[in-house]
Amino acid sequence: MRSLTDLLLLGRESDLSSERGVSCTGELPSPSDPDLVERATKARLALGSRAMVLGHHYQRDEVIQFADITGDSFKLAQAAAENKKAEYIFFCGVHFMAESADILTNDQQKVILPDLAAGCSMADMATANQVSDAWKVFQRLGIADQTIPITYMNSSAAIKSFTGENGGAVCTSSNAERAMRWAFDKGEKVFFLPDQHLGRNTAVLKLGLELSDCVLWNPWKPNGGLSDHEIINAKVILWRGHCSVHGRFSLDNINEVRQKVPGIQVLVHPECQHDVVRNSDVVGSTEMIIKTVTESPSGSAWAVGTELNLVKRLAANNPDKSVIFLDKTVCYCSTMNRIDLPHLVWAMESLVEGRLVNQIKVDPTTANFARVALERMLALP
Ligand code: 13P
Ligand code: SF4
Repeated sequence: MRSLTDLLLLGRESDLSSERGVSCTGELPSPSDPDLVERATKARLALGSRAMVLGHHYQRDEVIQFADITGDSFKLAQAAAENKKAEYIFFCGVHFMAESADILTNDQQKVILPDLAAGCSMADMATANQVSDAWKVFQRLGIADQTIPITYMNSSAAIKSFTGENGGAVCTSSNAERAMRWAFDKGEKVFFLPDQHLGRNTAVLKLGLELSDCVLWNPWKPNGGLSDHEIINAKVILWRGHCSVHGRFSLDNINEVRQKVPGIQVLVHPECQHDVVRNSDVVGSTEMIIKTVTESPSGSAWAVGTELNLVKRLAANNPDKSVIFLDKTVCYCSTMNRIDLPHLVWAMESLVEGRLVNQIKVDPTTANFARVALERMLALP
């Protein structure tokens, strides 16, 4: 039972995944249950076309095998928006993805996140209060009217709602360039949230802006740690957020792997740091990373800088190529990994028994403008 203080805190910071509870304590099947695959298969069959299972590429193999559709965050958002039939959508991914699916589906459809603790550290780096404080500074400086917010999919529904309400759009790693160009057609500045690296890489490497055109807004410092002059002169105001998985890859990793395996090509996600992306051979979203390796000639060698579940699957599915992880140390996304077979079995079996668990429901007021921002993304040329 939560205390009143907990509930008040939840209301104030409802976009922090760390505040989310986990409602399956004591009910989860044991991970060592030898019948887990059989139980999942049986529950999935029982749910039939009433359910759809979406799986992000960073999910574990044990979960991915039950996904009806696998994809990057853009493809999964599209799949959720297009499916009007499945009453229940099991989202095997993280919280912000399940929220977006809820916003893009109709009122009869229910989105389930098998483990409510599957959040995203990057999404948690921008809270609604912090973003609203930054916007107030832009209003004081008289630049808010010409500033278009672009928020990465990896953000809470509250941030997407702020973006929709203020004339902006959501983007993913596969359409960030198009979203940024769209924003510059509409205004003079872009306020890019919450991933500084995707924002910087897109502005500089795709749109040809200078690094000096971008400033970094630090939500923990007064005025974002910037002078009024710096804010007024910037073309892109980047939020100081990053992905704890992709942010780990370094230029040293690239130099080492090139030295060790001459001719190897380096393929990274645009959430990586700027010098890593700049020194790679290919950069792209998870969907694009898969396409690049799959379509490369037999015998090619790739060092891939993205989440480890995906890299391991790529290596297994391309035995005629050499696919290795860019970093020497193992690095899974710990929150993506929270969705495991016991949680999926628990969520599906509960529904078969008539109990809807772990539903992700965005409140209608937040959903309203968040939908505007998501639909602007889906309509990008
Ligand atoms: P994409 O699915 O857009 O490639 O994003 C990667 C990611 O970090 C998802 O959390
Ligand atoms: Fe968040 Fe990074 Fe994990 Fe994606 S990979 S869910 S951005 S922490």
